[in-house]
Amino acid sequence: MKKITIAVDGFSSTGKSTLAKQLAKALGYVYVDTGAMYRAVTLFAMRNGFVGGERDNVSALIRLLPKIQLKFKYNDALGFSEMYLNGENVEKEIRTLDVSNNVSSIAEIEQVRHKLVDLQKKMGKEKGIVMDGRDIGTVVFPDAELKIFMTASPEKRAYRRYKELLDRGEKVKYEDVLENVEKRDFIDSNREFSPLKKAKGAIEFDNSDMGLKEQFERIQNYALRVIEKQK
Ligand code: DC
Repeated sequence: MKKITIAVDGFSSTGKSTLAKQLAKALGYVYVDTGAMYRAVTLFAMRNGFVGGERDNVSALIRLLPKIQLKFKYNDALGFSEMYLNGENVEKEIRTLDVSNNVSSIAEIEQVRHKLVDLQKKMGKEKGIVMDGRDIGTVVFPDAELKIFMTASPEKRAYRRYKELLDRGEKVKYEDVLENVEKRDFIDSNREFSPLKKAKGAIEFDNSDMGLKEQFERIQNYALRVIEKQK
């Protein structure tokens, strides 16, 4: 059966990665979380003092971009790929609220986007991939056979992220998480280079009031119909 490319875009905490992982598993496709790549570059920038300081942060980071090596390595025990930054497993560090608070300003940098989009295009060359992010259907794979655009109310999304962070042992306040979600929505949707928007031909899913199971089943059926048509 011919393999397709599936692009999953949408606002933060809409469950893109949960859905993309489920789809990839069901179809036997590769899953790529592009947010993890932007988060890893952000962690690198934070560790090197390029975020929040007085220096010319952006140009210093751009100069060091060729030295940033990003790799996904599949973890058999966990059943998903983990993010490695210059050989170090940073899967936990990149998911903190601290990184979330800085990632949008790093993801706005044109050169950062170029580097990561190039890598993402290479990963998808063979098709058989489910990639999630903000610009997958618009920039990375504009010819993807299936494009999904996910939304949900900011409050629902903040609550989901809040619970996730608490489960991971981070001490956070709901109000801070909501503020982060709304701020990231604004920056991600209004930035100059590849802003978050619904791609041409994308199917929109608002899962404010939809369970994960129902959502997955509906999208999986859709994907199977698209794959069937490729024969
Ligand atoms: O999916 P996420 O919340 O882990 O993504 C983190 C941030 O990275 C998000 O606020 C915007 C940015 N991002 C992006 O600009 N383009 C992508 N393809 C993926 C993520």
